[in-house]
Amino acid sequence: MELELKLTTNDLLAVETDALILLEAEGGKRAELAQTMAPLYESGEIAGKFLEFTLLHGVQGLKARRVLVAGSGKPEKLDPTGLRKIASAAVRFLKGKGVKSAVFALDGPALGNVAPAAGVAAVATGLLTGSWEPDRFKSTREPGKSVASVEIAVDLTGEGVEKAFERGRIIGEALNLSRDIAVEPPNILTPTAMAERARAMVQGTGLSFEVLDRDRMQQLGMGALLGVAQGSAEPPAFIVMQYKPENPSGVAHLALIGKGVTFDTGGISIKPSEGMEKMKYDMCGGAAVIGAMQAIARLKPGISVTGIVPAVENMPGSKAQRPGDIVTSLSGKTVEILNTDAEGRLILADAITYALQLGCTHLVDAATLTGAIAVALGHTSSGVFASDDALLERWMSAAKDAGEKMWHMPLDDEYRDQLKTVYADIQNIGGRWGGACSAAMFLKEFSGETPWIHLDIAGTAWLDDEKPFLAKGPTGIPLGSFVNLAMGW
Ligand code: BES
Ligand code: ZN
Ligand code: ZN
Repeated sequence: MELELKLTTNDLLAVETDALILLEAEGGKRAELAQTMAPLYESGEIAGKFLEFTLLHGVQGLKARRVLVAGSGKPEKLDPTGLRKIASAAVRFLKGKGVKSAVFALDGPALGNVAPAAGVAAVATGLLTGSWEPDRFKSTREPGKSVASVEIAVDLTGEGVEKAFERGRIIGEALNLSRDIAVEPPNILTPTAMAERARAMVQGTGLSFEVLDRDRMQQLGMGALLGVAQGSAEPPAFIVMQYKPENPSGVAHLALIGKGVTFDTGGISIKPSEGMEKMKYDMCGGAAVIGAMQAIARLKPGISVTGIVPAVENMPGSKAQRPGDIVTSLSGKTVEILNTDAEGRLILADAITYALQLGCTHLVDAATLTGAIAVALGHTSSGVFASDDALLERWMSAAKDAGEKMWHMPLDDEYRDQLKTVYADIQNIGGRWGGACSAAMFLKEFSGETPWIHLDIAGTAWLDDEKPFLAKGPTGIPLGSFVNLAMGW
């Protein structure tokens, strides 16, 4: 059940709730607590450190049944991303403590320079993402484990604050939708099922929707994608979701393209069995696109946006493609397959060409594309590859506002040499060194002169271990950046 959110201007002293969440800055002392809780401040138990939580019961002078003091660090260092993490971690902290209702007080000097609207949006998103758990497939869920409703209490409401609240809620719900899809196991989330999830999302949004089946893809000539799909008994699905603004602000048409490999065994170039279960997450880019399209449909930016998810399963069936095969992509370029595990770039190549055929003027793809990007950047930043400086600048600013870390990676022409073959126009792997860069270079071949960004999210799309502010499992990255890019166009 999704967390219920509300915006209020309650009097904090009088509010009756299971838990009142109060921010406390480093070195600060809230008036509501200064007298009765003085020993906790003196002993340093409440120090206001970022993500420090102290749960108090029966605080005198307050009607709330509990007070959760949430450390927010130095006010001058707090930004909306930090606030989002605090809200998320607060909900996670309160889970399993019998707390059903809570009030998050967005007030006081702890907020530093965070503007009220930005703060409300961040808290709304954080409360929702914090409430999400990867436990959909447990047959019994412990009663009382989840917080049912949270009110965000602000000093003053107004149109700006209410709009920001809506936007924060819409992004939080989209992130959770994307994580719901991404966490489904690969026996259930087949390419067909992924298309059904997208179809269900689109209902009532006004988005137009189409799924190309194998026959249609064959007619069109998507040989690169179909080569990957042919080793699986599950048919591929090419998902297209389109948003058209009522009053377009210009002629730009953005494509958001997400890798949708519902399971990546590696195919004939099969992966080692250890950790292979994580390859159910090889569709996280696609799930982020589906979630982003839901948010875009609700937020109605002034730019046309087409979401494309090529969904396939990479299996080593008897019809599977072999190393040495040569396939003809939708672009007409031929590709020599040297490793069937480098499948993401093959399905994305055809998706990129399809986006160009639809008339998209700017392309952004997100893919769990290479292990090499995680070797380079770890689990902190996603790798960003760009063919156009203006789009890169827009992207980096959209990502910064979303609190999704991105690191600009090189795309020098030299990487193209690693993809040369005498047998076809290009080969699908570029050797041991710079694996994330040669993979990106492969995609660039298909985007041509159209401004394009590629995000390698193999290190950031899911968490192997939970964080105080996020459950184990899919993160939703880069959905927030997708939405900001469209909204800020
Ligand atoms: N889906 C994988 C990339 C991946 C690896 C994502 C680890 C998340 C975690 C991708 O399809 C793949 O297998 N890439 C190969 C490319 C290689 C064969 C050139 C890789 O990274 O090893
Ligand atoms: Zn692979
Ligand atoms: Zn893959």
